[in-house]
Amino acid sequence: MKKILVLHGVNLNMLGKRDPTQYGASTLEEINLRLAHLGAELGLHVEIFQTNHEGELVERIQRVTLEDVHGVLINPGAWTHYSYALRDALEMVKVPVIEVHLSNIHAREEFRRQSVLAPVVKGQICGFGANSYLLALRAASLLLSNT
Ligand code: DQA
Repeated sequence: MKKILVLHGVNLNMLGKRDPTQYGASTLEEINLRLAHLGAELGLHVEIFQTNHEGELVERIQRVTLEDVHGVLINPGAWTHYSYALRDALEMVKVPVIEVHLSNIHAREEFRRQSVLAPVVKGQICGFGANSYLLALRAASLLLSNT
């Protein structure tokens, strides 16, 4: 079974308590369950990792290059906007990486409109709340079925 790694970055463990007008009411646990169910439907194994530590996320991404992972979904939280370290790590990943955001980062404050990761990912899905993750998993499934 093909494996998709879902990476949640900084502050995403607080979903459900963060501004619901931007991020919705679902907790991260609820989103993860929905991802696991959709993964089962699509015949994909979904592995999930969340951290508030940038170096830990970089190390998890580095391990992807050594593992049997077929695709990566990543919501880096605020690191999206300034982490060149994450960008460099993602650039080394050979499988498709899909950037995910609950909110439409392009319709928010100026500093959120730039993603320093966007140039090194396959594509970006943002603005659909928790469904952004589910759409990204479907996108990964479609990409993998075409390869
Ligand atoms: C976010 C958008 C980021 O700007 C913010 O810092 C987050 C969440 C999103 O999913 O909409 O933590 O990545």
